[in-house]
Amino acid sequence: MLRRLHPEQPDSFAFTPANRAWAEAQIAKYPEGRQASAVIPLLWRAQEQEGWLTRPAIEHVAEMLGMPYIRVLEVATFYFMFQLAPVGSVAHVQVCGTTSCMICGAEDLVAVCRERIAPKPHQLSADGRFSWEEVECLGACANAPMAQIGKDYYEDLTPARLHAILDELAAGKVPVPGPQNGRYASEPKTGLTSLRAHLEGRPPLNASADLAVRLGDTVKRIDGTEVPLSTPWRAQPEKAEGRPAPEPKPGRGRPADATGVTVQEAPAVAKGHPAAGGAAPAPQRPAALAAPRAGGPDDLKLIRGVGPRLEALLHSLGVFHFDQIASWTADELAWIDANLEGFRGRASRDGWIEQARLLAAGGGTGSSRGAGGD
Ligand code: FES
Repeated sequence: MLRRLHPEQPDSFAFTPANRAWAEAQIAKYPEGRQASAVIPLLWRAQEQEGWLTRPAIEHVAEMLGMPYIRVLEVATFYFMFQLAPVGSVAHVQVCGTTSCMICGAEDLVAVCRERIAPKPHQLSADGRFSWEEVECLGACANAPMAQIGKDYYEDLTPARLHAILDELAAGKVPVPGPQNGRYASEPKTGLTSLRAHLEGRPPLNASADLAVRLGDTVKRIDGTEVPLSTPWRAQPEKAEGRPAPEPKPGRGRPADATGVTVQEAPAVAKGHPAAGGAAPAPQRPAALAAPRAGGPDDLKLIRGVGPRLEALLHSLGVFHFDQIASWTADELAWIDANLEGFRGRASRDGWIEQARLLAAGGGTGSSRGAGGD
């Protein structure tokens, strides 16, 4: 199945402030130079906020992670969990059409979706409130046929029950997820024949349905305010009673142990960076030029990883020549890394200083032009 971006796209995307804080906390989980590892959580959060992944959202995530747009587009188009077309403003219904569900009546559920929502999958209903698609096995085969609506599973479905669920959603209610035919969980339809003692005093809903009801975000867009921001991998502020802050966990700029395993597995980390076992640099702005010297600026795009956008960014920081970059100290490199908006860490990761030294001496980097940057 071809997965393409939708032809109609919004002009822009921005995370809500709370979602942005959440996204930055996710990025902080990973060592310097490995921020791209956060690509799926960030794309997912963008989808949770908007309902689907827009092109501006994909580009926004790429800029936050310092990744080429094409790399993030590849991720978004590879995984079917990412919606590349607008979904219903109230709910997107994902009907499982794999073997167990198919032989238990999934085709009848699809017929309900065609009748009630739209003739084809990934089409919006006439009022824009619903959409649907057929998906592969969702792992609830013992409760076939089933559908995922928003974040929750509706199991043991019948066409009549799906009609009723759509009615409830259209009326602004959230139907209780879980089995829809009176079963508690996935026990025999005729009731338990063993372990019957467990029937005594059990709560009215199974644990999954109970949690879904308590969270109450089945079909809700996530703007970040409803989820407590948990960042245990970040250093905690000192407690009021004077206890020292706990040691931060391995992560950005911090080797996993004294062997420097982060360094071994992340060769892109620059010498002098704390992840390389050296003293932590104190970011310091390098000397900036107001304008290029006579003769014009050097072609900074000869540095591997620098494209037109990074070159323009460097110019805005007063950097025009290879010898400027070649003379940066570790502290100055740290400042530059921190101030490459949208490309943080790129100078260390790509070894700009070493490359600039070669270029300033009249040599090449071996992968200069055409290597791709930004
Ligand atoms: S076949 Fe439908 S959930 Fe597995």
